[in-house]
Amino acid sequence: NGARQQVFVLVGGTGDLAMRMLWPSLAMLDQEGFLSDNLRIISVAREDCGTEVCVDRIGNAVTSRFGEWTTPEALSRFRKRIVHVALDAAHDDWGSKLKAELGDPDTLDIVFFLSVSPSLFKPICEHIEKAGLNKAPNRVIIEKPIGRDLATSKVINDSVAHAFAEDRTFRIDHYLGKETVQNLIALRFGNMVFEPLWNSQSIDHIQITIAETVGVADRLGYYDEYGAIRDMLQNHLLQLLCLLAMEPPSALTSDALRDEKVKVLRSLKAITAENVLTNTARGQYGPGFADGHPVAGYEAEKGSPSNTETFVAIKAEIANWRWAGTPIYMRTGKCLPSRTTEIVIQFKPLPHSIFGPEAQANRLLIRLQPEEDISLTLMNKAPGLTSEGVHLQPLDLSLSLIKAFDDSKDGKPPRRRIAYERLILDALNGNNAQFVRRDEVEAAWTWVDGIIKAWHDKDMKPQKYPAGTFGPVSAFSLIERDNGRMWND
Ligand code: BG6
Repeated sequence: NGARQQVFVLVGGTGDLAMRMLWPSLAMLDQEGFLSDNLRIISVAREDCGTEVCVDRIGNAVTSRFGEWTTPEALSRFRKRIVHVALDAAHDDWGSKLKAELGDPDTLDIVFFLSVSPSLFKPICEHIEKAGLNKAPNRVIIEKPIGRDLATSKVINDSVAHAFAEDRTFRIDHYLGKETVQNLIALRFGNMVFEPLWNSQSIDHIQITIAETVGVADRLGYYDEYGAIRDMLQNHLLQLLCLLAMEPPSALTSDALRDEKVKVLRSLKAITAENVLTNTARGQYGPGFADGHPVAGYEAEKGSPSNTETFVAIKAEIANWRWAGTPIYMRTGKCLPSRTTEIVIQFKPLPHSIFGPEAQANRLLIRLQPEEDISLTLMNKAPGLTSEGVHLQPLDLSLSLIKAFDDSKDGKPPRRRIAYERLILDALNGNNAQFVRRDEVEAAWTWVDGIIKAWHDKDMKPQKYPAGTFGPVSAFSLIERDNGRMWND
């Protein structure tokens, strides 16, 4: 689309996500030379604040996030790209007014980012379509929540699909934009050492944890309707599971990659009323202390009783040749003791130990947040003399990616990229490999809907856990029940 002028239309341009993440991402892409010289950026919002005020706010948002790394020249060039247009999706002139600002659609290559509530996707896509702004190569970026279940996700996807073909619909899961998550693909398929062992013959089980110290106080309105299973597990945790469990794709192209991910989702063994009590744990934080602050508890923050879970743990099983017999334990929650995202690949014990019980099984730990570290626990001979036998000691072969790729300059700490930087750049370039395809969303919902239904059938309410602890007791029994396995805390 080199001949067309690129336009990035950020709908919801004055909103919270835009200010915290999207504008700073665009500004850094600009500063690092990734935006084409003639790219225009249109901020769209109901608020009629005018371009000048809007651009000032954007400037502040960028400097408060990346002040240390941005330069005044780069910021001033970035500001000049932006125009703010006040449009209300409830009014029919939304599309015509935008079109008047944009100019002849046949000369443009437009990327829409709908940073608005999903309830507005339908009317906005209708406006876009009516104004003829939906035709190829134009594309749209949308973000979760894409429904609360399979049925509502279909309604949302259908309303977008009316205007934009699937290959021009970019569904964000911001975890896929994280460097550390992308490194999972490099680690698995860029090395020879892991793949031959990456199966149930050698791997005892896998753990995936996304732990957060924050609560949900300021997002209660949204969160209470969704809970941890819809907010984190249906998307981020399952995406991590797919990257870990998928077969090697034939290429790094978007469909090759996504075909493999969707196969994993479809192979997940259903969790039903028969096994939901043993294979899942639901929790809700009560009073306690997290993130350095006293926490009143979820219900106290809400001011009324609630059955929404702020913690979920699940034992997942993948019914295919590679993984049968190797469970994958996943957990995520709010108000936990630490902010970490990590994956544990626990290998099986030796078939026969000539060292006696001292020989421990190998373990590969991949920490994705807050820092990326990879460590492989290996058994070594403990130095020194013994009158009999050999003493073993587990030691870690470890790699700190932040140190390995240390790009700190002039005494400044290295800049942490926001996941949206890569995702926006990919969308501008029309590359949807790191976006979620419709069949993935639907396969994920199908599995998650089953769990929610089983909770309902068994009347399984969340158990309280004190804020600042790793979830309810049932989260520990879920894993300990299986041969005394333990979470890696
Ligand atoms: C979002 C969830 O998708 O991811 C939030 O809605 C959660 O509840 C956030 O806090 C976590 O993202 P990150 O990048 O901070 O791990």
